[in-house]
Formats: sequence, structure tokens, C-alpha cells
Amino acid sequence: MKTLFTGIQPTNDLTIGNYLSLKNFLKKQDDYKCFFCVVNLHAITLPKDPKTLKEKVERLYALYLAAGVDTKKSTIFVQSDVPEHSELSWLLTCNSYMGELNRMTQFKDKISNLKGGDNVSIPAGLYMYPVLMAADILLYDTDVVPVGADQKQHVELARNIAERFNNKYGQTFIVPEPVIAKAEEGSKVMSLDNPAEKKMSKSNPNKFSKIGVNYTPDEVKKSISKAVTDSEGVVRYDPVEKPGVSNLMVIHSKFSGMTLPEIEQKYAGVGYGAFKKDITEVVADELTSVQTKVEEILASGELSVLMAEGAKSARETASVVLKRTQEAMGIR
Ligand code: TRP
Repeated sequence: MKTLFTGIQPTNDLTIGNYLSLKNFLKKQDDYKCFFCVVNLHAITLPKDPKTLKEKVERLYALYLAAGVDTKKSTIFVQSDVPEHSELSWLLTCNSYMGELNRMTQFKDKISNLKGGDNVSIPAGLYMYPVLMAADILLYDTDVVPVGADQKQHVELARNIAERFNNKYGQTFIVPEPVIAKAEEGSKVMSLDNPAEKKMSKSNPNKFSKIGVNYTPDEVKKSISKAVTDSEGVVRYDPVEKPGVSNLMVIHSKFSGMTLPEIEQKYAGVGYGAFKKDITEVVADELTSVQTKVEEILASGELSVLMAEGAKSARETASVVLKRTQEAMGIR
């Protein structure tokens, strides 16, 4: 069985876009040996409030469980509970080039947002972030990495590091493949206020440009009712001519389970009112049920046990791969 690895940053304000991609990889639990990782070491590459970080990690872990991680089949763990990540990260740092890190577009974007953008105050962790991500992936002999398009370059870096390492020290790492889901599969839910150009983003300050996993039914309703459509009045999938309606159709489809053609048929001749009302209902129902499950899991007191089991299971693989790497490099 092939191995799948993916990581999500611990933030509380995930949007339904993040939620749908999470559900996408949960579907693969029967076909792959899956590792799901809450990447708190990535989160601290930009300053985080120590008081709330732990709670965010717990909530995200609970969300994974609520969304359907089957701990009998898959491993779900917190990155910092498996010290092999930091250790391999250093070994890979010594096998990475500043030249290739300088080319990472996410790094360039992030530093351009920092005040002044001067080298003096750019956190070095931000620069090394892609190497830590390569360590995450390579540590599990990972074959496939489902990621958003914005992370493809990082997975390619992991491939380059793995290939270079294998050539230099002998076969050590499996070279992973990125898997980018298609827009119709819900990987790319667009912003509700600018569906032609922008992805739905948790960092967008406009509350109604997005639907948060934490939104109440009333907030869901507001976001959907304000969502940009067009004046044609026909529910038809055409992302170029009708980006707003097409985006809402994808959301409908992902939450209702209906196909895009079925949705077109259902709303033929009835306009956008009924369409939006139904979307609000399916989305709000599912979010309410997920929110309830998350609260139940957090209240159950089982989380620390599950986290310890997850870390133990992850370390069974990670320790073998780390040892192999250390031996290859002559430090063990
Ligand atoms: N960098 C990824 C993101 O921000 C998160 C991540 C960390 C990840 N390590 C990973 C994703 C390993 C896939 C595999 O979305």
C-alpha cells in the first residue's frame, strides 16, 4: 500500500475551502497508508501567541477526528510530538542550497508583507520552512502528498532534496509526488466577493468573502446571501463566464453530494433564490454537526490519549527513516 502524508497548520479560522480539502484526503484512507500531521512547528515560523497555540492544535486535531479520520487505519499526530521532524530537518538543511530556498515564491510573498522587508528582521525559520516540510514528507517514505497549488513548489523542493541526497549518499528516501486536486473537487473554493480572481482565504478581512468552519447558521446565511452571482439567472457551471455561480455550485455539490449536472437540472428555471437557500441549508447543517462533534471530543478528555497514540505510531516509521539517514551521512 502506498503512503500519503499531509500537514495542516493549526489555525482556528479554517474556511470551508480548507475543510473540503481535508475531507478530500480523508476519502483516501482505504487506499493509502495515511499520515495526517498538525504542523505546529511550521506555525511558529511567524510569531504565535504561546497561550492560544496549544488550544489551536487541540481544536484542529479534534476537527480532523470530527471530519472522519479513522484512527484504526490512519495516523494523526502533532508535529512537535515527533522529534524526528526537527532532527531530519537539520540533516536536510545541510543538504539544501540557499539558491533553491531563495526561489520559493511563498517565502518571497511572505517577506514582502513583513514590515520594511529588510533582511535584518526576517525570521530565519520562515526561510527554512520548506526544508522542514521536506523533512515531514521524507520521514514517512511518502509516495503522495495532496496539497493546494500554492504548496506544489515546496513538494518539488522535497523531491529535489530527496533525489540529490540519494545520488550523494545512496538510496535513502522515496521521491514523493504532489497531488493537486481539481477545482471541481473542491480544492479551490473561490472568494464569495471576488470569485473570478481570489481563492477563499482565512486571512481575508471581509467576513462575508468566506465561510468559516466555525460560522453559525446565521453567519453562513449572510455569507451566501451576499455572494456575488450574475444577472443571467441560470444555474450553470461555467467558471469563466459565471465564476460566482460556478463556485456556489461546487460548494453545493461538495456539501449535498449532488453532481454539477444534477444541480443544473434541479434549479433549471427557478433562479438563484432557491439555489442559495439550499446551499445555506446544506452547509449550515454540516458545519453545525462538525462543530458539535469537535466540542464533544474536546470535552471527552480523550484527546491526550489519542495524541500520544498518534505520536507513537508516527515515530515507528519516523525513527527508522531518521536512523537510515543518519547512517547514510555517517553520524550514527
Ligand atoms: N506548508 C503546508 C501549508 O501551509 C503545510 C505543511 C507542512 C504540509 N508540512 C507539510 C503539507 C507536509 C503537506 C506535506 O499548507
